[in-house]
Amino acid sequence: MKNLIIRKPDDWHLHLREGLVLKNIIKYTTEYFGRAIVMPNTNEPVTTIERAVSYKKEILDAIALGTNFDPLMTIYLTDETNKEELKRGYKDKVFFAGKLYPANATTNSRHGVKEIKNIYKLFEIMEDIGMPLLIHGEVTDSNVDIFDREEVFIDRELNQIINRFPRLKVVLEHITTRYAVEFVMEKKIHATITPHHLHINRNAMFFGGLNSDFYCLPVAKREFNRLSLIKAATSGIENFFLGTDSAPHMREWKAFCGCAGIFNAPVALSSYLKVFQEENSLDKFEAFASLNGPKFYNLPPNQEKINLVYESFKVDDFVEISDSFKVVGKIKKFHAGEFLNWRIQNDSHSS
Ligand code: NCD
Ligand code: ZN
Repeated sequence: MKNLIIRKPDDWHLHLREGLVLKNIIKYTTEYFGRAIVMPNTNEPVTTIERAVSYKKEILDAIALGTNFDPLMTIYLTDETNKEELKRGYKDKVFFAGKLYPANATTNSRHGVKEIKNIYKLFEIMEDIGMPLLIHGEVTDSNVDIFDREEVFIDRELNQIINRFPRLKVVLEHITTRYAVEFVMEKKIHATITPHHLHINRNAMFFGGLNSDFYCLPVAKREFNRLSLIKAATSGIENFFLGTDSAPHMREWKAFCGCAGIFNAPVALSSYLKVFQEENSLDKFEAFASLNGPKFYNLPPNQEKINLVYESFKVDDFVEISDSFKVVGKIKKFHAGEFLNWRIQNDSHSS
């Protein structure tokens, strides 16, 4: 197959950051995706209507004129989230969904939920008004091995949440295990799958020394889990859809503190397509990337189509972050130095 025409995809899990980083990276997402669910774990987290409005404005101001892109904002749930604010924000279409981060589970999650039972009262409202709940599904108990945290979260927390709130629209984000794939299918909930979890297993973090380029949360797991994620994503089954979890960190910080997050936005579609092609499932890509998500969120699929062409290109190492003309930093791309085979026709960014 030499080209593939599909409806423009959406990214159902994305970190856009703020300030200069936002300004320099947003073009990668707006070129390839019609909409994106924007994660609320900014430096000052998006916990109120006011903050969501100002963050959305910052995002829209950073987008090139004439670009058709819809950022879908989320509220960062905390033990203190105000019920009325949650309800009003959803009814007024400021919040598209609510995000649950267990406190300290990942980057900028120190404000997250300390005791999930404390926010059952919010779930009750969300179930009632049809507001989706997006979950970072890892326990933070330091006695639980980091590679087991997703499975333990499913057993200790998620199972109870969905039993107690059967009509709640739940997305288990960036799943990394076969256990999660099976749970999602059995309980008929939904999940996003990232490109990196389809490509790497836990060995990647230790290849050639300790390598934080492949460190993200939840961490990549053993190979059999990756294989199960590949089967799920490429099946076309509507419970699974695209969410890149593209999470840029400036090189200095990544190198210095090894912060969690992989920046895949510039190569996300090509990265997924490599896997779909290897699985002989290119015919399922549109469902995963452009149809299953809108169906779950009760939105129409994007009208616009994109033409993906089979053409080899080398991924360069970094995206530069500049302030006007002065380069102030850089961010490592996922697949840096590798060859990928699919690109969007007329795409000006992948190289
Ligand atoms: C994300 C980030 O950097 O904001 N990091 C990551 O490893 N995925 C946060 C998250 O989604 O866990
Ligand atoms: Zn994320």
